[in-house]
Amino acid sequence: MRRLCGWMGIMTLLVLAAPAAAAGDVMNRMMQGLGAEMARINEGIWREDFEAIAGAAAAIAEHPLPPLLQRLELLAQLGTAAPRFMAADDEMREAALALKEAAEGGRIDEVVSRYQPLQQRCVACHRWYRRDGPGAAERREIVTEWGGSDEQ
Ligand code: HEC
Repeated sequence: MRRLCGWMGIMTLLVLAAPAAAAGDVMNRMMQGLGAEMARINEGIWREDFEAIAGAAAAIAEHPLPPLLQRLELLAQLGTAAPRFMAADDEMREAALALKEAAEGGRIDEVVSRYQPLQQRCVACHRWYRRDGPGAAERREIVTEWGGSDEQ
């Protein structure tokens, strides 16, 4: 009976771990896309290419969601943190739309001043996720492995 329980435990872990890994990949790909759009905004600022800036800001605001199945895996992985995660995504969207409007109006100073609040939305979600959100447990493991402190 004990052996049986052990195997069932491993099976459960495998079943749970597989979607979690896939969801992580989906998340990273989505995020790499956002990073590329932020770089495009920067390039646009140096060249005063308002079209490129507005396009990149729109791409951030309307970033494609993963296909339904992967989205469900992602939500399952986020668990009770899902509402917070979606709210943070909404805040980022608002900031991106404000920047897009400034670019469409050709207002370079406003574009520059709206860049930082947008970047803050990215960083705020990362910090929450890594310190208090679902990423925290993983991080604690790494910190313990390094023998460092969890101050940062
Ligand atoms: C709603 C939450 C949220 C928002 C908003 C958000 N991110 Fe992320 N981001 C994550 C999570 C979760 C990860 C993966 C977890 C980790 O690396 O600790 C991540 C990771 C990343 C990575 C690393 C991906 C990799 O391959 O390792 C990049 C780059 C990134 N985000 C860029 C951005 C940019 C740029 C923005 C803003 C335009 C942004 N993110 C906004 C949640 C968010």
